[in-house]
Amino acid sequence: MEPVKAAVIYYSATGTVHALAEAAAEGAEKAGAEVRLRKVREQAPADAIDANPAWGAHLRETADVPEAALDDLAWADVVLFGTPTRFGTPAAQLKAFIDTAGPLWQQRRLADKVYAAFTASSTAHGGQESTLLSLSNVFYHWGGIMVPPGYTDPVQFRSGNPYGASHVAGGGSPDDIAREAARYQARRAVDVATALKAGRAA
Ligand SMILES: Cc1cc2nc3c(=O)[nH]c(=O)nc-3n(C[C@H](O)[C@H](O)[C@H](O)COP(=O)(O)O)c2cc1C
Repeated sequence: MEPVKAAVIYYSATGTVHALAEAAAEGAEKAGAEVRLRKVREQAPADAIDANPAWGAHLRETADVPEAALDDLAWADVVLFGTPTRFGTPAAQLKAFIDTAGPLWQQRRLADKVYAAFTASSTAHGGQESTLLSLSNVFYHWGGIMVPPGYTDPVQFRSGNPYGASHVAGGGSPDDIAREAARYQARRAVDVATALKAGRAA
């Protein structure tokens, strides 16, 4: 059987979600997947970016990360979306990418894949769950197979988020627990996709 294909598609302004995306890509690779790590296109105006030096710095640091394309969605068996929390919802940049997926949806090419999502917020009760739940609405519409981490691994009791890996960015960069939770979430999604792929091939 060909390896499961996993696309980690994220938006990050200042690097937090990027760090989680890298950890998710590691986890997916360790689980045996072929992985594409992709950022979505920046859409913010230059003056907004210039007003936050960390934002511009992160953009420059990740200039070599390929931009997500619809082909990445079509290619993948597993899609892991990462986004900062923006007023309790996903970032507009990620939503803008998702909103280009109409043609794939019409052709039913987004259905039956495994989906999961991860996020960051500044504060502990700043809307991580609502952001992840908001993305799950998209997965319902696509006919996706949602694979949340739940409390299926000891790291989940330490990270504390059964909806998806997450980090409170106000406390600094993702710590070992947040990164491990992102690795675990990706591993679990790939494991489920591997079982599905084997079952479908049988
Ligand atoms: C427009 C805007 C809205 C935000 N809304 C929230 C929010 O609702 N709750 C919260 O805790 N943090 C909020 N934040 C903070 C971001 O979630 C935080 O900076 C982000 O998770 C860091 O991820 P990044 O480093 O990958 O960009 C907001 C930030 C911006 C710019």
